[in-house]
Amino acid sequence: MRVLLVGNGNREHALAWKIANSSLCTELFTYSSSPFLREIALRVSLSQSASHEELARFVHKEKISLVVCGPEKPLAEGLVDSLKSFSPNCLVVGPTKKAAQLEASKVFAKKMMMKAGIPTAFYEEVTSYESAFLKGLSLLKKNGGVVLKADGLASGKGVFVCHSEDDLRLALERLKEIFLESKPRILLEEELLGREFSYFSLVNEQFHTPLGCAVDFKRLEEGDSGPNTGGMGAYTPVPWLPKNWEGEIKGKIVDPLLLLLKEEGVSYQGILYCGLMLTASGIKVIEFNVRFGDPEAQALLVNDPRDYLELFLQSFEQKTGYTPFVASSSKTIAAVLASQDYPYCTIEAPQFQFAFKPSFFENSKNPYIFASSCEKKGSLFYPQKGRVLTAVARSDDSFAEAKVKLSACVEKVQKIWPNFRWRSDIASRVIKEEL
Ligand code: AMP
Ligand code: GLY
Repeated sequence: MRVLLVGNGNREHALAWKIANSSLCTELFTYSSSPFLREIALRVSLSQSASHEELARFVHKEKISLVVCGPEKPLAEGLVDSLKSFSPNCLVVGPTKKAAQLEASKVFAKKMMMKAGIPTAFYEEVTSYESAFLKGLSLLKKNGGVVLKADGLASGKGVFVCHSEDDLRLALERLKEIFLESKPRILLEEELLGREFSYFSLVNEQFHTPLGCAVDFKRLEEGDSGPNTGGMGAYTPVPWLPKNWEGEIKGKIVDPLLLLLKEEGVSYQGILYCGLMLTASGIKVIEFNVRFGDPEAQALLVNDPRDYLELFLQSFEQKTGYTPFVASSSKTIAAVLASQDYPYCTIEAPQFQFAFKPSFFENSKNPYIFASSCEKKGSLFYPQKGRVLTAVARSDDSFAEAKVKLSACVEKVQKIWPNFRWRSDIASRVIKEEL
């Protein structure tokens, strides 16, 4: 089967690796600027600024039968709608523009959660900085914490968990930088307390099949401090969940959501990512995303021995029902190695001091290295900005063993590229708990 993968990141590198290893894949195309994806797949001969219609024409002309879209932006902008109008029979892993609102608009997602009775944090929407400050202050005084969120896509950087008036003021400054001249649309949320994790499933209308749970490390600094990022690391599975987690998520979250989407006439096909908090009063939703997490995908895809193209095809065959979760006994940890200035990426000059040889990546198999933000010059890869690499280690035995492998891999990278930023405490708590 001819497959197209859209997207540039470490997540897409992991997806490309997984799809290319499927016995069902005859040809894998990527629409991507990443030099790594060009190494393992055929490149779509269109510029990165091509329109959705141009990409849809390419899919039609090349007789591509399955498209996987990694990132949220093309989904929110309607890529899937264009693909479906040019090639109605092409299978697309990714929701339409309307369904992608679940991620693109936090207000839309909250309204859907309220309507479907899905457990989530209390929220209020405001459209001025003054009312955000006043209402934020009163929630802060009442609850000791408040969360401010920019409505819209902000790559995980538009959310601020505030515990003091100073935090609140800083959050508002950052929100001003996000909205610039446009009218702010801000959500104020009750702070949920508990342990955070994510649940991923493959959805086709009323059918869903669980892909697994992972813990993402959103904060930049060790000990879960510093600003929110797109994610600095992840581990899977999540051994500390209560026994009934699968039934609780299905019964209270995914089934009611899919039913409401159907009632509202919104068709959903693709990955559903539920950002969740295990609180003292059960599992609550922090957010919905309409694609795989990055770096959670890197951990899940390495941990899961299943053929993902087979899974995708199976999901398109069924419109109702549920496939119970298949647990893998192995444990996997992913750590992101980012540029020093991540997540703000303020340093303009590209960093061409350090270079990786292709063999460095070719030889990386458990630990795996997925990569994105590098520039290729000749045969060498030069790390650039943002989340450049993800190192991923799996163990059939324990998280502790996976971490030892991971740390050795990070040391290997350090010898070539010494000035990256990473969190050495990824999975430390779960390792302590398994002792
Ligand atoms: P979001 O983009 O909505 O997932 O938010 C990013 C991160 O901020 C989440 O992964 C949580 O760590 C934190 N967060 C967001 N909303 C809340 C909330 N209501 N209570 C506690 N933490 C939150
Ligand atoms: N790691 C969080 C995300 O992908 O949104």
